[in-house]
Amino acid sequence: MNSTTSSLPSSNQAIEHQCDALIIGSGAAGLSLALKLADHCQVIVLSKSDRNEGSTRYAQGGIAAVFDEADSIESHVADTLDAGAGLCDKDVVTFTAKEAKNVLEWLINFGVPFDTEENKSGEKKYHLTREGGHSHRRILHAADATGEAIQTTLNDAVAAHPNIHFFERYNAIDLIASKNTAKHCKGVYVWNRKREQVEVIRSHFITLATGGGSKVYQYTSNPDVSSGDGIAMAWRAGCRVANMEFNQFHPTCLYHPQARNFLISEALRGEGAQLCHADGTRFMHNFDKRGDLAPRDIVARAIDFEMKRLGADCMYLDISHKSADFIVKHFPNIYRKCRSLGIDITREPIPVVPAAHYSCGGVVTDLNALTDLDNVYAIGEVAYTGLHGANRMASNSLLECVVFAKAAAEHILSRLQHKTTAEPIAPWDESQVSNSDEEVIIQHNWHELRLFMWDYVGIVRTNKRLERALRRIQLLEQEIHEYYAHFKVSNNLLELRNLVMVAELIVRCAMQRKESRGLHFNVDYPDTLAQSLPTILTPSKSLIQEEPGTLST
Ligand code: FAD
Ligand code: SIN
Repeated sequence: MNSTTSSLPSSNQAIEHQCDALIIGSGAAGLSLALKLADHCQVIVLSKSDRNEGSTRYAQGGIAAVFDEADSIESHVADTLDAGAGLCDKDVVTFTAKEAKNVLEWLINFGVPFDTEENKSGEKKYHLTREGGHSHRRILHAADATGEAIQTTLNDAVAAHPNIHFFERYNAIDLIASKNTAKHCKGVYVWNRKREQVEVIRSHFITLATGGGSKVYQYTSNPDVSSGDGIAMAWRAGCRVANMEFNQFHPTCLYHPQARNFLISEALRGEGAQLCHADGTRFMHNFDKRGDLAPRDIVARAIDFEMKRLGADCMYLDISHKSADFIVKHFPNIYRKCRSLGIDITREPIPVVPAAHYSCGGVVTDLNALTDLDNVYAIGEVAYTGLHGANRMASNSLLECVVFAKAAAEHILSRLQHKTTAEPIAPWDESQVSNSDEEVIIQHNWHELRLFMWDYVGIVRTNKRLERALRRIQLLEQEIHEYYAHFKVSNNLLELRNLVMVAELIVRCAMQRKESRGLHFNVDYPDTLAQSLPTILTPSKSLIQEEPGTLST
């Protein structure tokens, strides 16, 4: 079965699509994988919103790789291990750092317009910037909108490929377990948002490329689609997840009522910007000898500490000592955005606060990006590969997306000849559900969840707050489960169901860690243990069955 089929139904007819490789998510990870597979097989790519919407397009700083002769793979590895606070998998870090230049060249060949400069002998070189934790300049970037450049370049290539079939505004709901083969999935139920109906996509290989779950927090730099769907789907299907306690808070999001989640790139500090109080006093050297360029966990905690100590609404980031030309050339988008809000960053400091930014934990995968299920892969922010440990170093995330897309592609291509026979899939059963009569419950639960996650499971945690959060999560889970069993699905309901699951996984991981390390700081266990391991959660059973409405939790 080598082609995609999609029958157009009469109103109630079940729709089934099929392909060789289904990729759920159209960010840097999903699109890179699609392009690497498409010359060899039929690919479907899903995005639950517009095809370009995801964290990738908002990435600012850049993507890390060793391009400078004075730099080395060993140094990239050492910096990543250091930022990861003792919990990175060294083999994975080495594999990623070694692959970096190769995958960057692949992006460059597709036409991603990374900034260049001429050296003294008139040679063109990539301009390399610096961010926290990096001991060298090693970040390729397209001004301060690197993500937009990668997203649109890859998307144009995907749109031009005849073997890639893009399904926009389709939410994957759940993986469908095989009845014959343990740990195998035969397809996915998807919510077609335009037609408002559930359809089936059958595929030999399925890849989760759904991004992270930072939307579980009230304040986040992430777009709305970052609701942890892939993590929740994989967990429900029986996959292990790891290190969910390590949610990264970016230190510097713009503090402004009209732009709460706009990021102020760490690259500003890489180019000399300084954190300070309202009166201009600098404070980062009181917290770490690397000052403003300490790893993110340290800087975010320092800002949080200073805000609480002084009762301040925000701290400030000042780059106005640099020339206006330099600022506008290197940070045109940040300059424009701030200017539109009445802040001239060439003359005055920028008000900043920390916000949830990145899920370091996720679905456990191996070096082939394979999960615990034998035909399900996870790549990009949804995955836990072991690269980031207890704290991701800046600009290693886009890199991980492309490195592991390549690894997954090679593994899938090596297995294309051994496809299993198709099993029937029961259509989605809506006979027991009706239209929702109380959408307000979803809205309310949504706000409640994100607020208490911010207050109780944020930058600084305590045992009591974690216990409180877990009790509330369990109540919400009960309510949402009942709602899910009785009413037709909607985007909000699907996302809330996943977010509450992600919240539970974060809290359970946080409760297991009896120390403070990297991004996880618990006042009741302030010390870092001499030895520590990743937190790995194993689901007690696979919760997915074929017929919705009969889920066992
Ligand atoms: P995303 O780009 O988030 O894409 C997720 C995709 O999955 C979307 O297409 C979405 O529609 C789809 N999806 C989700 N759920 C479903 C579902 N149920 N059904 C169907 N589709 C679904 N990293 C760096 O390395 N360098 C940087 O400079 C940098 N800057 C950043 C700046 C900001 C503001 C943010 C938010 C992040 C930044 N990061 C940066 C992190 C990095 O951008 C992300 O980790 C990375 O882009 C994630 O890519 P992804 O492909 O895994 O997911
Ligand atoms: C930034 O530009 O500060 C974000 C970089 C990252 O998250 O890697």
